[in-house]
Amino acid sequence: MRTQPIDCPADLDVVRESYDRVADNYAHMVVTTGVGDIRRHPWLKASIDAFADTVSGLGPVLDVGCGPGKVTAYLAERGLDVSGVDLSPRMIENARRLHPKCRFSVASATDLDLDEASLGGVLGWWSLFNLPRDVLPQVLALFARALKPGGHFITATHVGDEDAVRTDAYGGVPVRWTTYKWRPEQLVDLIEQAGLRPVAELRLPPEEYSGPGLVVMAKRPG
Ligand SMILES: C[S@@+](CC[C@H](N)C(=O)[O-])C[C@H]1O[C@@H](n2cnc3c(N)ncnc32)[C@H](O)[C@@H]1O
Repeated sequence: MRTQPIDCPADLDVVRESYDRVADNYAHMVVTTGVGDIRRHPWLKASIDAFADTVSGLGPVLDVGCGPGKVTAYLAERGLDVSGVDLSPRMIENARRLHPKCRFSVASATDLDLDEASLGGVLGWWSLFNLPRDVLPQVLALFARALKPGGHFITATHVGDEDAVRTDAYGGVPVRWTTYKWRPEQLVDLIEQAGLRPVAELRLPPEEYSGPGLVVMAKRPG
């Protein structure tokens, strides 16, 4: 049985075009500067390693908003049955070029057709912050439903109160998107309301080029 359709964000096309424009720069930055590369960030790597250990053997894992696929490929190297999906066709072209052995597809988090209890794990790794505040809960509910009992969700996102409008990103490329920042307790509440039980929370202080961040891991009870 399919779930209720999720409201389509009004700016989805603009966000897609923006990520298409930055995709080549972003992929280049991941390779050359380590931005977005968990191997260069011990706490992010520890979070992904804990997630990988937890979901290993539980079933397929879906990396939603995978971008150029660095984390998808990392999880595949760790032996997980993982695939990546992203809104931006150009991000997926880069992902396929950089990680030809991995599986990638193009779709919005708001338009995924996921069977109930079909996944061992779902990631929304720095990829759900463009979802409007009323849409994110719907996507979290979709993820919760798609997880098997005992399956896990992990997300990383930007912390704050604002809806920050970006007009350039990743080396000065013109973009148009809103970064919806969340206070940790707000996001954890949303995750719980979606039917998941938070199991770990990691707060990251601001760094030279980024504001504070948050990682939350949660499990579907059962
Ligand atoms: C900052 S990048 C992070 C990419 C990757 N997860 C990483 O850690 O390197 C954000 C990604 O989220 C994707 N994204 C944004 N909105 C999305 C949506 N509605 N559905 C799927 N992907 C989305 C963008 O296309 C982009 O690739």
